[in-house]
Parts: sequence; structure tokens; C-alpha cells
Amino acid sequence: MPDARLDAWRGRIDAALDRALDLPDAPPRLRDAMRHAVLLGGKRMRPLLVLATGALLEADEEALLAPAVAVELIHAYSLVHDDLPSMDDDALRRGQPTVHVAFDEATAVLAGDALQSAAFDVLANASVDADIAVALVRELARASGAVGMCGGQAIDLESTGRSADVDVAALERLHAMKTGALIRSAVRMGAIAGRADRDAHARLDAFADALGLAFQVRDDILDVEADTAQLGKTAGKDQAQDKATFPALIGLDASRSRLNELTDVMSRSLSEFGDAATPLRALARLAVERAH
Ligand code: IPE
Ligand code: IPE
Ligand code: MG
Ligand code: MG
Ligand code: MG
Repeated sequence: MPDARLDAWRGRIDAALDRALDLPDAPPRLRDAMRHAVLLGGKRMRPLLVLATGALLEADEEALLAPAVAVELIHAYSLVHDDLPSMDDDALRRGQPTVHVAFDEATAVLAGDALQSAAFDVLANASVDADIAVALVRELARASGAVGMCGGQAIDLESTGRSADVDVAALERLHAMKTGALIRSAVRMGAIAGRADRDAHARLDAFADALGLAFQVRDDILDVEADTAQLGKTAGKDQAQDKATFPALIGLDASRSRLNELTDVMSRSLSEFGDAATPLRALARLAVERAH
């Protein structure tokens, strides 16, 4: 049952992303680069989290599509910039050439910038009450910026080449910021659109914090264990660049144990929601069991 629902949501998310990137008045090369970054694959984990959290709270699905699209646009921009030669220097993403390879570096920088603006444009024009729109903008802005994703990416770059100097507490903070912040904001935006009460927000935050960390621990493990064809991005890059990752700091077995602990935290955080949280549980399972 949950899989059919997730598939239907995926279709609606993809259609809404396509509409958001129609942009007939934009310079064609920039628009094509933005569409390349967003529309050619991707698991859509963050927008699915918005829809699954909103559904748990019986929010109107139309009201959830705007934050779902917005968080995926921010995520896609973060990947375009993450792949740049001055950051992780990757040539492959979602089984396609990265944006700076398919286009050029300046276009990739601008496509990322414009995707970020497009995300807030979508939120500002969402068909939701004004108080909800402001709360959504506040949430996504904070999660994307210097105390969220961008801050985490800055710490990631500072740590690259010196993973031996990073301890586990610092690594958890790095991961919570670079990857956890956007995942947490996806869940929080679903909760905001669904007008969650304080108690539901607290339980969903606990779930999302564990999920955000688990998602990056799994990403780190896959970089070691999976191959490039399976991942759709170059495998083995983290060790080659001496990135601070869970396998590098504590080894693969301990990384898998940490994932199991986080899985327990996630299921405990959702227990009181009962069957309404079935789609969220399915997404949590996907995050820790995924093969790419
Ligand atoms: C990759 O994210 C980058 C991380 C934050 C780990 P995803 O694994 O969600 O990538 P896509 O969107 O499915 O390509
Ligand atoms: C990316 O982390 C986190 C972002 C904010 C984009 P990684 O650098 O590990 O992501 P991949 O492995 O390139 O997808
Ligand atoms: Mg990176
Ligand atoms: Mg990377
Ligand atoms: Mg990675």
C-alpha cells in the first residue's frame, strides 16, 4: 500500500517540478541547466517527506506541493554546487554528466543560484494562508543557509584532507548540517502545512534528526560499498579525497551499528502516530536500506 502511494506522490512531485522550471522568459542555456539538474532522476526523498508528513496530519495535498517542490529545488542546487571542481569535483550525478560538465562551470554556478531563488519564488506563491507561507519561508531559509546546509558544506570542505583530526561528535554535527538540515526542514514543512501541535512537532523533529543523520551515514557507506553504475555517481570518492565520513572515522561495521541505532530512534519517534505514519516509516526504511 505505501509504495503505491509513494509512486503516485512521486508522479505529482515530478509534474510540479517540471511546471516550476518551465521559465519561458529565462535564457535558454540557464533554463536547460536548471532542468538538467532537477528533472533527470533523483529519488525525491525530501519532497516525499513533505507529503508523507503532511498526509499524517491530514493536510490538504495541494498545500504540500509547494514546499515539496521548494525543498527539492534547494537540494538540486546543493548538488550542482557540491559537484563543482572547487568543491567535490564530480563528473557524474544521477547517472548523467554533472551540470558543469554538460554545460560549463559558470552556468552551473548560476543554475544553482537560480534554483535557490526559484525555491523561494514557489513558496512565496503557494496557495496557503499567509502565516503558513511565512513560516515555510523561514523554515527553508534557515535550513539552507549558514547554520544549515551551506554551513555544513563549509565544515565538510574544511575537514577534507584531514579526516584524522575530526572526532565523531564533530562529524555528526557536520552531517546534521550538510544533509540533516534539509531533511529535517522537509519534515518540518509538512508539519507546518499540517498545523501540527507542539507535541507532534517534537516527535517529528526527533524522527527527522535521526533520519537526516542516517541518510548521510548510508550515503557514506554506499560510497565505499557500491559501484559507480549502481550509484549513478562516482564511487570511492570519499576515501580518494580523504573526506570526513563515518566509515573513515569508525569503520563499516560500526557505521552499520550506528544506522541500526538510528532506525530504532526513528521507529520509537513515530510509534504514537500509529498507522497514519506508514508512509513515513516506508521512507525511513528506504533511506537506510537504499542501494543508491
Ligand atoms: C545525495 O542526496 C546527497 C546527500 C545529501 C547525501 P540523495 O541521495 O537524496 O540524491 P538524489 O536526490 O536521490 O539524487
Ligand atoms: C552532499 O554530501 C551534501 C550536500 C549538501 C549536497 P556528499 O558530497 O557526500 O554527497 P554526494 O555523495 O556527492 O551525493
Ligand atoms: Mg560533498
Ligand atoms: Mg559530493
Ligand atoms: Mg557522498
